[in-house]
Amino acid sequence: MSQRRARSGGETLNTRDQLVIHLKGAKGQWVSGEALSRKLDITRAAVWKHICRLREEGYVIDSYPRKGYFLRAAADSLLPGEIRHGLRTRCLGCRIEYRHEVDSTNRIAKELAMGGEPEGTLIVADSQTGGRGRKGRAWFSPPGGGLYLSLILRPSLHPVEAPKMTLLAGVALAETLLPFIPTGVSIRWPNDIYSRGKKIAGILMEVATEIDTIDYMVLGVGLNVNIPREDFPAELRRRATSFVSETGVPGRRVELLTDFLSRLEEWYLGIDKKGFSPVIERWRELTDTIGKRVRAAWPDQPVQGIVVGIDEDGTLLLECPDGSVRRILSGELEYLK
Ligand code: BTN
Repeated sequence: MSQRRARSGGETLNTRDQLVIHLKGAKGQWVSGEALSRKLDITRAAVWKHICRLREEGYVIDSYPRKGYFLRAAADSLLPGEIRHGLRTRCLGCRIEYRHEVDSTNRIAKELAMGGEPEGTLIVADSQTGGRGRKGRAWFSPPGGGLYLSLILRPSLHPVEAPKMTLLAGVALAETLLPFIPTGVSIRWPNDIYSRGKKIAGILMEVATEIDTIDYMVLGVGLNVNIPREDFPAELRRRATSFVSETGVPGRRVELLTDFLSRLEEWYLGIDKKGFSPVIERWRELTDTIGKRVRAAWPDQPVQGIVVGIDEDGTLLLECPDGSVRRILSGELEYLK
C-alpha cells in the first residue's frame, strides 16, 4: 500500500484519508477509478486495494464498471481523517493521536503533555486495555464500543480553579447527549453523566501544577456508545448504560466526538470573557444532585445531609441535620435513600 502523504490544513494526510475525502467530496455521486488514481497519483490497482481495505473497516462502497465508486455509508471509525472531516474547532483536536488499542489514553496524554505537546492535542483510541476511572477504578473500554479520549489543556488559571474545568467538561458532555436521549441526561456530582439512573459517561481530569499555575490538564472522557446491556460485565450491568441502550439506535462515535469538542471549546473560550458563572449556572440546570440526601467524605468522619446547591467556586453545599452547611470541594458522594 502506498504511504504517500499530502498536506491539508497543516496536517499530513495519508492516501487512505485522502481517498475517503474524495469519496465524501463526491456528495452522493459516482467517482471514477481513473479520476481517483489521478487525484491521488497512484495506479487504479492501488485505488482498488485501498477501496477493499476501507470496506474491511466498515465503509459501504459500491463499485460498478465504467462508473467507478460510490460511497454509500462511512464506517464508524475514529481514524484521524474521519475526525478531521467533521471537526469545527479552532484549537481542540488540532493534533490527533489515534491508537487502535492502548492501555489508557490518559497515560499517553500525560506523557505527551510532559514532553511539551501543545494545548488541544487529542488522543483517541478504539479500545483500551487499562482504561482508568476515578478512585483507581477500571473503565470498561471494549473495541468499537465507546469513545475513549483524552485532551491536553493548558488553561491560564490558578490551580484552585481546576475543579471548575471538570464541571465545564461535564456540561459540554451532557449537552452533547441531550439532543439524542429522549428521557434526558443529568450530571451527577462532580461530573458523571446519568441516564435513567445509570451511568453513561465519566470524566477523569488529571492536573499537573506549578506553585500558582497549571502546567497541563488531561481531560479524559469515557462515553459508552455501542455497548449493548448484555455486553457489560455482570457487576456493571445494573449501574451502567450506553447510547444504544438509551436511544435504541447505534451512535456515530465520530459525530459525538466532534460535537463534544465544539461544545467544549465554546464553553472553554467563554471563560476568558465571562468567567465560570455561566458554566456553574448551566451545571445547576443539568444536575440531579441538588436536593438529594448524600454522605460525603469529611476530614475526620463522613458527613450526611441534603445537597442544597453549588456556589460560584463550584463547591457543593451540604446542609447537615444540625442546620450547618458544609462545603464539599471534591470527592465522591454516596447517594442515600
Ligand atoms: C470515571 O467516571 O470514573 C472516569 C472515567 C474516565 C474514563 C476515560 S476513557 C478515556 C480516558 N482514559 C482513561 O484511562 N480514562 C479516561
